[in-house]
Amino acid sequence: MNETPGKGTNTVWHHATVQRKNREQLNGHRSVALWFTGLSGAGKSTLAHAVEERLHALWCRTYVFDGDNVRQGLCSDLGFTKDDRSENIRRIGEMARLFVDAGIIVMAAFISPFRADRVRVRGSIGNDDFIEIYCKCPVEICEQRDIKGHYRRARSGEIKEFTGISSPYEEPVAPELVLETGTRSLEECVDAVMAYLVSRGIVTRAFPEDVRRNGEQEDAG
Ligand code: ADX
Repeated sequence: MNETPGKGTNTVWHHATVQRKNREQLNGHRSVALWFTGLSGAGKSTLAHAVEERLHALWCRTYVFDGDNVRQGLCSDLGFTKDDRSENIRRIGEMARLFVDAGIIVMAAFISPFRADRVRVRGSIGNDDFIEIYCKCPVEICEQRDIKGHYRRARSGEIKEFTGISSPYEEPVAPELVLETGTRSLEECVDAVMAYLVSRGIVTRAFPEDVRRNGEQEDAG
C-alpha cells in the first residue's frame, strides 16, 4: 500500500527540546500504547473506554482510537481488503507512536486481524511501550451478540470479507495480556489491565483514592 519510500526522503527529523521524558514527568506517569485486538463485537472499544475512564479518574492523560471512529475520518478512504486493513493499522500505529511521544497513554481498539501488521506496529512503537491485549471472545459469542447486525449481514453475503466469517483473524502469539471478554465481566477485564499497568510501573495504583477494593492498602500508590 502506501509505503512509498522516496516521498519523505528530503525531510530531517526535528528534535524537540521538550522531550517525552519531560512530558511524562509533568504528567506523573509513563506513556504507553495499549493495543486491543480481537474480533468485531469482542468488546475492544468498550474495554478501552472503560480503562480510559479508570485512568482518567487517576489523573492520567489518555486517548482512545477505535476502528469505527477512525474509519469515518483519518481512514475513511480505506475498506476491508488485506491491503487496506494493513494501511489502516499502519496509520493508527504511527498515530499511536506520536501519542506515546506526546506523553499520553493511548489505547487503540482495532480488529487488527493480521499478525504481521501488529508486529510491525510493535516494532515501530518499541517493545517496552507496546502492550498487546488480546480480547479473546469466540466468534459464536460475537455473532450471538451481533450488536451492529454486521454478522447477520456477513452471513447473508451482504458484507464481504468480514473478519471471523469470510476473512481470517490471526491470534496473537505472545500478547502481554489475554482477556476472555466473552465470559469475564467488563469490570474484571478493566481490573486485569490496571493490575498489569501497575505491575509494569506505568501507573502507581489501580483505583482512585475514593475506591478501594481487593484489600488494597490505605497507603498504596
Ligand atoms: S481492521 O480489520 O482494519 O482492524 P477496524 O477495527 O478498523 O478493522 O474496523 C472494524 C469495524 O468495522 C468493525 O467493528 C465493524 O463495525 C466494521 N466493519 C465493516 N465491514 C467490516 C468487515 N468486512 N470486517 C470487519 N469489520 C467490518
